[in-house]
Amino acid sequence: MSLPYSEKVIEHFKHPRNVGKIDNPDGKAIEGSAACGDMVAVYIKVDKDSKRIENIKFQSYGCASNIATGSIVTELAKGKTIDEAKDISWQQAADELGGLPPIKQHCSVLAVDGLRAAINNYEEKNGLIKNKKATTIEIINKRLKHVMNPITGLDVVKTNLIKKVELINKEIIVIMDIPSNHQFANSLKEDIVEKLEALWDIERVKVEFTE
Ligand code: FES
Repeated sequence: MSLPYSEKVIEHFKHPRNVGKIDNPDGKAIEGSAACGDMVAVYIKVDKDSKRIENIKFQSYGCASNIATGSIVTELAKGKTIDEAKDISWQQAADELGGLPPIKQHCSVLAVDGLRAAINNYEEKNGLIKNKKATTIEIINKRLKHVMNPITGLDVVKTNLIKKVELINKEIIVIMDIPSNHQFANSLKEDIVEKLEALWDIERVKVEFTE
């Protein structure tokens, strides 16, 4: 059977570059796709002065296109400034790979989104966000859509794990519809706190469970 992939896609899929995790990254993001239930994590180390990406790694639970795109996107981003890396598009990644089947477009978007979200995470943590907007419940919900429910591979909003979200002064309270002894309670809590406490005007994030 011949696969609808270019030789370069197959080569990057078989020998992906920059696979893994960076401990204590300067920026990180996990992006998921509702279309296929897959996830991509991107970790970056950024030089404080030059703002260049010194190191970048990714982990993928996606398909061959997704792995190949993660590989090429991290190669393209390494050594670039964060502003240059933000401009890497899925089209550029797909072109570098010699094309991707149209049905696999969302897979390459996922890897590019992961890179942009990791850069955004770095900028938020370092007070580098330009047009700062006051946090709203809508912004919080948008962020929660990037927290994945590991059981289904879909986000915690779509899978109804979030019972209620409150925003009081500079504090966010997220009440989850799972008990505190749920097998993923702690990792979900960590993920939610990490995503929300990066918001520039938030001082505290509390995650509560049903019991
Ligand atoms: Fe899910 Fe490609 S990442 S089908």
